[in-house]
Amino acid sequence: MVSTSFQTKIPNSLNEHWMPFSSNKDFKKNPRIIVKAEGIHLQTHDGKTLIDGSSGLYCNPLGHGRKEIIEAIKNQLENLDYTMPFQQGYGGSFELATMIAQKTPGDLNRIFYTICGSTAVETAIKIAVAYFRSIGQTNRFKFVGRERGYHGMNIGALTVGGIPNNSKEFKNILMPGVEHMRHTFLPEHKFIKGQPDTGSELADDLETIAKKLGGENIAACIVEPIAGSTGTLIPPKNYLQKLRKICDKHGILLIFDEVVTGWGRTGSAFAAQEFGVTPDIITMAKATTNGIVPMGVVAVREKIYESVMDASPEGAVELFHGYTYSGIPVAVSAAIAVQKIFEKEDIFNRVKKLSKYFENGLHSLKDLSCVDSIRNYGLLGGVDISMRDKPGKAGFNVYKKCYDAGVNIKPTGDALIIAPPFVCEKKHIDEIIEKMRTGIKNHLNSN
Ligand SMILES: Cc1ncc(COP(=O)(O)O)c(C=O)c1O
Repeated sequence: MVSTSFQTKIPNSLNEHWMPFSSNKDFKKNPRIIVKAEGIHLQTHDGKTLIDGSSGLYCNPLGHGRKEIIEAIKNQLENLDYTMPFQQGYGGSFELATMIAQKTPGDLNRIFYTICGSTAVETAIKIAVAYFRSIGQTNRFKFVGRERGYHGMNIGALTVGGIPNNSKEFKNILMPGVEHMRHTFLPEHKFIKGQPDTGSELADDLETIAKKLGGENIAACIVEPIAGSTGTLIPPKNYLQKLRKICDKHGILLIFDEVVTGWGRTGSAFAAQEFGVTPDIITMAKATTNGIVPMGVVAVREKIYESVMDASPEGAVELFHGYTYSGIPVAVSAAIAVQKIFEKEDIFNRVKKLSKYFENGLHSLKDLSCVDSIRNYGLLGGVDISMRDKPGKAGFNVYKKCYDAGVNIKPTGDALIIAPPFVCEKKHIDEIIEKMRTGIKNHLNSN
């Protein structure tokens, strides 16, 4: 628990910092400044202690201030703080790639480092195109995403994503040749625990799009196995299996964006293993470094890597793509420390064991009159709040009321995202749910 004696003033000026994905005007009138984090608690500038019910932005599942990670980073910085990742390397990035490949499903054993989730998705898109060029299928450069998908904020990721508010200002500059399947949330899924029984036929949208665009022109279909940032939409039973079959029929690559679900959120290392469907490419970020240092990762099937390698003459750069901060030592050292904690603390099984308790706790909020829907899987939950006046107003108000009640959650429109840290105990789940209840009740009593 964070000490309550630690207090600090808000900064002298809030004017200069243009905050991302925030209501800057609202924040600057009533700032919410976090001054310290320890374990699964955060302390605010005005002395409140919050339980971190969303693991930050899903990215601190091992809790804050982990000594092993801090030590690993310190050691790394003292020995080798940076080395350019192009045409030279250092041992850690290879060691980490081996560790990651041991956890990925199937033969997704070739590992490309990026700097965040968005760049992981952009990289996956480019690798898909490069792969098809390498095998002579130069016509394959179209992509299929899904409504309500979130894949990040650069142009490629934004285009395959399916949240209208994110792209409406930028329509003129989106990638051409991208179609979207319908999302998988049906009215009968409102209070379903885990995977819904109905809705697998929505995967046939991919077949319809393949007819429209020509299956032979589509490079890849990208989905989050569980749609995270739209408010946690759980895939209907057999839906992902159907997508896999349709991709195979047309030779389309299947990309799972596991930036949220990767590294244990579902109770398995990846949702791919949890749902028994092996994609061709997986993107990951968030939990990879426990959120402490930016890092994204793309895992690809061996045949994709081999084809791209084989298509290039000896000595040539095979893929003209990479980032200054691709797999830099400080990120890699954090990620290796995280991998060791996953093993030592049997983290994925821990998530699995806590999932039912979390499910029951979350669904206990059903009696609150403004709760329209509750969804969950593993340690991931979504709660829809009835709209007030205009979309997003109620969700934002509940977020603020929850913050005041002592729990940090992530709002997205009128949905709340709950993603407890994996190191939670049952009493912490109780604390998150109780404080959410207080926050939601206070919302109900406010204008
Ligand atoms: C599924 C998914 N993909 C990609 C991203 C983009 O990640 P980043 O914000 O690190 O660029 C996110 C971010 O929330 C995400 O949820």
